[in-house]
Amino acid sequence: MTVSIVYVLNGPNLNRLGSREPEIYGSQTLENIADAVSREGESLGLAVDFRQTSDEAELIGWIHEAVDRGADVVLNPAAFTHYSYAVRDACALVTASGARLIEIHLSNPAAREEFRRTSVIAGVATGTIAGFGSGSYLLALRALAR
Ligand code: DQA
Repeated sequence: MTVSIVYVLNGPNLNRLGSREPEIYGSQTLENIADAVSREGESLGLAVDFRQTSDEAELIGWIHEAVDRGADVVLNPAAFTHYSYAVRDACALVTASGARLIEIHLSNPAAREEFRRTSVIAGVATGTIAGFGSGSYLLALRALAR
């Protein structure tokens, strides 16, 4: 069986999950989520590479790396969602290459402040999953494995 590679990438401030606005993001830490994602990936036959950065340039470099490896990407762009054309352009490279990119969010940004209702990423993503807490990550893996 060929194992597909999936990059699960996380943007700024997500390393603070657990203590960051738990009423919105839940009480799980990013480490807890990484463990659940790795177990789910294993059961679906996906090789998951899970990373977090608060640095836009580093995130873009990882997206380029995924393109070069022909890997699908699950991305929680965090606040970059709402304004980073540079991250959007990198995501466009993924989908233009024929790989899939799923934009995910723990919360449902469409039901929050006005500025969160814009995603500059959605237009170049294969699809979006939002509002299911850490379940958004697992649903994205299942979508890729189907
Ligand atoms: C988020 C939603 C974003 O608006 C916010 O900036 C985040 C997290 C989410 O997962 O719900 O940092 O991407």
